[in-house]
Amino acid sequence: ADSWVIMVTAQTPTNIAVIKYWGKRDEKLILPVNDSISVTLDPAHLCTTTTVAVSPSFAQDRMWLNGKEISLSGGRYQNCLREIRARACDVEDKERGIKISKKDWEKLHVHIASYNNFPTAAGLASSAAGFACLVFALAKLMNAKEDNSELSAIARQGSGSACRSLFGGFVKWKMGKVEDGSDSLAVQVVDEKHWDDLVIIIAVVSSRQKETSSTTGMRETVETSLLLQHRAKEIVPKRIVQMEESIKNRNFASFAHLTCADSNQFHAVCMDTCPPIFYMNDTSHRIISCVEKWNRSVGTPQVAYTFDAGPNAVLIAHNRKAAAQLLQKLLFYFPPNSDTELNSYVLGDKSILK
Ligand code: PMV
Repeated sequence: ADSWVIMVTAQTPTNIAVIKYWGKRDEKLILPVNDSISVTLDPAHLCTTTTVAVSPSFAQDRMWLNGKEISLSGGRYQNCLREIRARACDVEDKERGIKISKKDWEKLHVHIASYNNFPTAAGLASSAAGFACLVFALAKLMNAKEDNSELSAIARQGSGSACRSLFGGFVKWKMGKVEDGSDSLAVQVVDEKHWDDLVIIIAVVSSRQKETSSTTGMRETVETSLLLQHRAKEIVPKRIVQMEESIKNRNFASFAHLTCADSNQFHAVCMDTCPPIFYMNDTSHRIISCVEKWNRSVGTPQVAYTFDAGPNAVLIAHNRKAAAQLLQKLLFYFPPNSDTELNSYVLGDKSILK
């Protein structure tokens, strides 16, 4: 009678911030010092697939990441598991005669298997897709009734940027005001159909693991950078308003200007940290120069660039024509297997090769 298993599989794409989150005001609850805005990629590229299973025969919670068992003892996993369990509801499978009551979930254990179709922890925001997918799959398994914004506040406690992956399209993470963090959650700005001619290309400069984790980096920045305080108080609130406008009006010139400026300021804030943090390398800098020169020579921006906590370039092209030209330039200036280290291209959103 104890041999049954119930499984749920979910797939969640990663997201790329165009107005960056960097710095926590509360490390335990993962509450940020400013709002941020991101674009969620197409699930066909850069996504996590997670299967969660429950069975009375499971003796403990266990998790496998890309086929390798990992420990669930960390606070981030425990937060997500605890918060979803607290919201679990009755589940019934009439066909198989299985009934799980709200109370049973406290004693039942889960097994979790998660796969990334891209390198883990290489500055490609793998934790964003991972925790969003985990929380979503667990919520479905345990029949939690919370909507995606409410689930985002739970995913946030796994990894801050994860809260933005509960929605497609462009998403805003509102920093919130209250101390318990319940209003620090994600809302959709526009859905994925609103601006579907954008093409996202990720130039993988290096797929090695980053040297400074975002947790350590943010802590050091919050403790030492005066520029961060200025950014969070004076710059980001205005940029958030302008960015939402640009997205709603599909104003690429303004969107590109804000995206590049915010990426550059995020890396300036890293440089303003003591000791300074370097996430970009020479190849990253050369890509920036190449895009800036091109945009200037055309007169209106064709491509926006943004870099997270690593050297890989996320390039957002205005349309397929600009994306095709961009790929041509990248292949010319950064030929694969050359000493520039640029080793592959990942196409986000709509593949221009198909
Ligand atoms: O959520 P974390 O801890 O992986 O931090 C992500 C930070 C950045 O990717 C650099 C910026 C962002 O807003 O995603």
